[in-house]
Amino acid sequence: MTAKTPYSVRICFADDQIQPYYTLVQIPTFRTPECGAKYMTKKINIGLGVLALIFVAIQFVPVERTNPPITGEVNWANEETREIAKKACFDCHSHETIWPWYSYVAPLSFRIVHHVNHGREYLNFSDWSQPNEDFDEIKEVIDEGEMPLWDYLLMHSDAKLTPEETEALLSGLYETYKQDPPVER
Ligand code: HEC
Repeated sequence: MTAKTPYSVRICFADDQIQPYYTLVQIPTFRTPECGAKYMTKKINIGLGVLALIFVAIQFVPVERTNPPITGEVNWANEETREIAKKACFDCHSHETIWPWYSYVAPLSFRIVHHVNHGREYLNFSDWSQPNEDFDEIKEVIDEGEMPLWDYLLMHSDAKLTPEETEALLSGLYETYKQDPPVER
């Protein structure tokens, strides 16, 4: 049963002979008008079925959405700075992450959990006893538009800071840095 030869026409009339391998990877090179549509429908159905199975299967891959206890939050220079950081940065740089419903759906969940874990390693406002030495980079990543991450902004429009909020955040963080610098590594 090879779909590449003219004999592949046979496949059209014997659906039970179609094997997932062929139906997924091989586009028939010879089809009669009557059976071509049928063949393609079957192919797409099986393709979708396999995708659906994979989708269901990956939901069982364990991922941990954590919010560890807040052991030592940075001593903010003022409440306004904290408020702005909270809406734009806390979901990935604190232990106060708000996990949205789609963070429970794989494969999105893999990406989100990775970002939060990774983000906390670099900079964690809830744990000021860790070095947090990337504090220095804040101005740069904001000026260059790297933070908050672009895909986060798609779902969190309020995290898209206005120029005034950005300025308030940066100057507030500067004051915060002066009064409570991160510990040395
Ligand atoms: C959606 C998650 C997310 C949000 C929201 C977010 N970050 Fe990040 N941040 C990360 C991740 C992940 C990293 C790790 C490095 C990378 O991927 O670039 C990171 C790294 C950083 C770094 C270190 C960069 C470096 O290259 O050393 C700084 C500084 C930073 N973020 C600041 C911020 C600030 C300030 C905000 C809020 C305005 C913010 N981030 C919002 C996920 C996020």
